[in-house]
Amino acid sequence: MKRISWVHSGWQLLLLAFFLVASAGAGAQSIPSGQVLKRVVEEAYEKFKGVSDGAPADYIPELAKVPAELFGVAIVTARGDTFTAGDVNYAFTIQSVSKPFTAALVMQDHGGAQVIADKIGVEPTGQKFNSLLATQVIPQVSVNPLVNSGAIASVSLVKANDATERFDRIMKFYEKLAADKLTVIEDVYKSEAATNQRNRAHAYILFVNDRIYSEPMEAVDVYTRQCSIGVTAKQLAVMGATLANNGINPITHTRVLETRYVPKTLAIMMTAGFYNESGMWAYTAGLPAKTGVGGGIVAVVPGKMAIVGFSPRVNDAGNSVRAMKAIEYISDQLGVNVFGSGR
Ligand code: DON
Repeated sequence: MKRISWVHSGWQLLLLAFFLVASAGAGAQSIPSGQVLKRVVEEAYEKFKGVSDGAPADYIPELAKVPAELFGVAIVTARGDTFTAGDVNYAFTIQSVSKPFTAALVMQDHGGAQVIADKIGVEPTGQKFNSLLATQVIPQVSVNPLVNSGAIASVSLVKANDATERFDRIMKFYEKLAADKLTVIEDVYKSEAATNQRNRAHAYILFVNDRIYSEPMEAVDVYTRQCSIGVTAKQLAVMGATLANNGINPITHTRVLETRYVPKTLAIMMTAGFYNESGMWAYTAGLPAKTGVGGGIVAVVPGKMAIVGFSPRVNDAGNSVRAMKAIEYISDQLGVNVFGSGR
């Protein structure tokens, strides 16, 4: 009897040991080790720092003045660990990288993700981010929240009594995502406000089709301020890591976004985050991500980490060349393509 109970507890111990090893192994596998993350960030920086393809965007005159040489790479994990290389403390304008975050705020404000599908749309255009043609021919008109027309419609759906309150709510939401204080880069805001006639055209097309939900020029102005918010690569990586961590900021441990809105936000990033290059991006990096003409890109590895690249030189689609290369490299090295590593 005694012997049987010994055997019994022996098996239990063995089983327990097996589960402990297996779960420790799974945990270690789910987020690569700090050593590996440090290595891939440094390698990506070294490998691509010499690439000089593309040029800083100049259709917003002030953006052309940003030093083209800047280059930074950052990873923040869903546990809040940070790995960086290069110019990760330089504040650049968030530009279109802001768009998925405001779309997420709209979902939360309206208590459901359906508002985006119903009042904006979720179809990719295959066209440039500011295509008036897409806005006119796509039946949803506002198209999706990641092109300019849909992003302006998105801003108009943020719940507020006036433009000041609307912008303040967007800013506070971003600060919670970034776990830091943020400021508008006023020179870029003024420069874009003086040259954003195309965005005003988008807003009026939305208006005549009943697809904008606040006064159109006010929505354009709040959108322009939103795009001019300054972020560093490190701050942007924390914003992305909050999405990777199911809406809980991994630095402050506070919930910023309800978990159910995270997959919706990532879905639009996957299908439309790179505009007319979204298909190629899915094909190469295989990660939901968003680009901006300020040179920033944030990619999200669900449950694991955010990967950020920043370099002001952008291509014809408005996507940062070195940031794309760095993230593609890291995605491949870590085998974190959401469609499978292929290995
Ligand atoms: O509305 C615009 O044109 C800019 N504020 C943002 C465009 C942008 O970032 C395009 N992305 N790569």
